[in-house]
Amino acid sequence: VGPCIFVSRSNLPSIIYSELNKLPVEIRMWKETGPMWGKQASPPREVWVDVFKNCVGAIVTLGDIIDKSLINEADKLFIISTYSVGVDHIDVKAATEKGIYVTHTPEVLVEAVADLAMGLLIALARKIVLGDRLIRMGGIYDKWGWLLGSEVHGATLGIIGLGNIGTALARRAKAFNMRVIYWSRTRKPHIEFALGIEYRPLESVLTESDFVVITVAATPETRHLINEERLRLMKKTAYLINVARGDIVDTNALVKALREGWIAGAALDVYEEEPLPSAHELTKFDNVVLTPHIGSATYETRERMAEVAVRNLINILMGKRPLYLANPEVLSVRPLQALI
Ligand code: GLV
Ligand code: GLV
Repeated sequence: VGPCIFVSRSNLPSIIYSELNKLPVEIRMWKETGPMWGKQASPPREVWVDVFKNCVGAIVTLGDIIDKSLINEADKLFIISTYSVGVDHIDVKAATEKGIYVTHTPEVLVEAVADLAMGLLIALARKIVLGDRLIRMGGIYDKWGWLLGSEVHGATLGIIGLGNIGTALARRAKAFNMRVIYWSRTRKPHIEFALGIEYRPLESVLTESDFVVITVAATPETRHLINEERLRLMKKTAYLINVARGDIVDTNALVKALREGWIAGAALDVYEEEPLPSAHELTKFDNVVLTPHIGSATYETRERMAEVAVRNLINILMGKRPLYLANPEVLSVRPLQALI
């Protein structure tokens, strides 16, 4: 048998397994079932150590924490292909130093995540989830009072992080006749021009917006970017939506903001702690909409992510550039070389 390739889940789209099956490689798969993005489904550390010592590549997911101590065990492993756009679960710097390629799946999930962001925004503004809950509870509800919502058209959307997802969201918002402002680490004049949106300092995005949507990547610099002080800048009538990463928002500060009414509500797809426990403080608010990290969760998008994840890995095995390399600096540490 050829070199060993590890796949950290058995329930990914089948193209991953079928493409690997065509190659002269030994496929090892972790079969324990559990929620796909949940921590329980990740293999235990002994399994990972064995993989890093004996396999050449691994297809991993967001729930797999690949830290420096694990990367130090990499006697053989030199490809980590994550089935996600985010690479914040991987110590990319340590990987680069060790000559490990880290690949990911941007672009293919952009539209799906932007769709979800828009969906959460409207669900919040128009109390869609609350309305559904009230019908199911079968009680008497006063739709002239607490089911009154906020208008989406004509409102100001503030986007935090104008990457691919933020840009796709801006396009949607323009179609809804929203005014769009944004803050991003790098200003994007061509997108401002093309879409008719405006750049603002972060503080102004927070003070001016009726809806603030976070689409910035998680890095050490963006951890708790939205903290107590910044939440206090938002209008009392404004909503916060996070489809990026949980730790960009200080959860304790957000709970305080909701409890004390500094903002009108929040919709979250990502959390500092995933899966979010059902008894969490956030689940107690009627003006909060919660989804379990489903930004990219459509059949079509997941299929494309799987295709990209397996292609990234196979390309490197064949000595070719992967479609999306998260650490291009690694090419000078370990030049590409065909293994199969
Ligand atoms: C989803 O959160 C991803 O990083 O793919
Ligand atoms: C928002 O208010 C909701 O719960 O749907």
